[in-house]
Amino acid sequence: MTNGKQPGDTCVLVTGGCGFIGSHTVVVLLEQGYEVVVVDDLSNSSEKVLDRIDQIVGDEAAERLTFVRADVADRDALEAVFDEFDIDAVIHFAGFKAVGESVEKPIEYYSNNIGNTLALVDVMRNHDCKSIIFSSSATVYGDPDALPLTEDSPKKPATNPYGWTKWMIEEILRSLTVADPAWDVVLLRYFNPIGAHPSGLMGEDPKGIPNNLLPYVAQVAVGRRDAVHVFGNDYDTPDGTGVRDYIHVMDLARGHAAALAWMAGKTGCEVFNLGTGTGTSVLEIIRAFSAACGRDLPYVIEPRRAGDVTANWADCTKAHEMLGWDAEFGIAEMCADSWNWQSHNPNGYEG
Ligand code: UFG
Repeated sequence: MTNGKQPGDTCVLVTGGCGFIGSHTVVVLLEQGYEVVVVDDLSNSSEKVLDRIDQIVGDEAAERLTFVRADVADRDALEAVFDEFDIDAVIHFAGFKAVGESVEKPIEYYSNNIGNTLALVDVMRNHDCKSIIFSSSATVYGDPDALPLTEDSPKKPATNPYGWTKWMIEEILRSLTVADPAWDVVLLRYFNPIGAHPSGLMGEDPKGIPNNLLPYVAQVAVGRRDAVHVFGNDYDTPDGTGVRDYIHVMDLARGHAAALAWMAGKTGCEVFNLGTGTGTSVLEIIRAFSAACGRDLPYVIEPRRAGDVTANWADCTKAHEMLGWDAEFGIAEMCADSWNWQSHNPNGYEG
């Protein structure tokens, strides 16, 4: 794919490029000189993010960005994209991502997440584009036997359909590399992405009541919700609350660019954890966000949430050694950037 090519000669298709992680990755790719085609159906994102991307990268870089509104499962639309653009590699973010909703709507989750991936790789094959980076998740590790998690830690049964889609899509993509050695697959297992672009122009904008901790805390900080609900304080952790490896979305975005540069000309399937290597508890997050927004945020202790693991954090040695990538930002910066975004855009992109 990008073998021997400079970013300026390389066209990257980003599915789900209007979403939280996708949009931040698009900014990094444009800043590095890539040509970018975003395919997004806007089912869980806003077209307004495209204006924000333009504002951040400037007119010259923005000219290298094309947006196509389409569902990745729509083969005709995808074929048209591959006919029009000489796509060198794909970064595949598009997918449903709400854990709880996936339990209620398994058919929709399996059909959308797995169906769109199969359509995508089929169309890619038809056009002899065989380089793909997939948005996987630490969820594939399930409840860990030992910490930190390395890429060799075992995959465990998922606890919900969303987790199974990540689990299975990893295997589907790995199978491609077995069947046809020309495929070049990178599976990036994200830990917990939070934060926002430091400009305050882009960030996470969940529809409805946020499922994840950070957007919920941010909405309490901005006055949209009364108090943070802390799901359990009787875990076997230093303060009893769940521990996660939170990673700044800009570090994650740079991780995609590092993987893209690294995979150029390679074949096979490689897995990388993208985290910081540090675990942070729910109460530590609330304290850090309180410091960022300048007031003590109220919280209430609730029972544990079904399906939650006690703790996980990553060993990121492999990404450091092979991709030359390290997370740069700590929790204070993640909360400060998240607050900057939320306070300037209290109702997200629609505000
Ligand atoms: N939590 C609360 N209150 C909330 C939301 C979350 O106390 O309102 C707690 C959870 O119990 C957990 C921690 O905050 O201890 C983090 O929860 P998140 O929902 O933010 O994130 P998860 O670790 O549950 O989920 C994330 C991703 C999933 C992915 C999963 C597995 O959002 O996509 O990691 O790695 F599947």
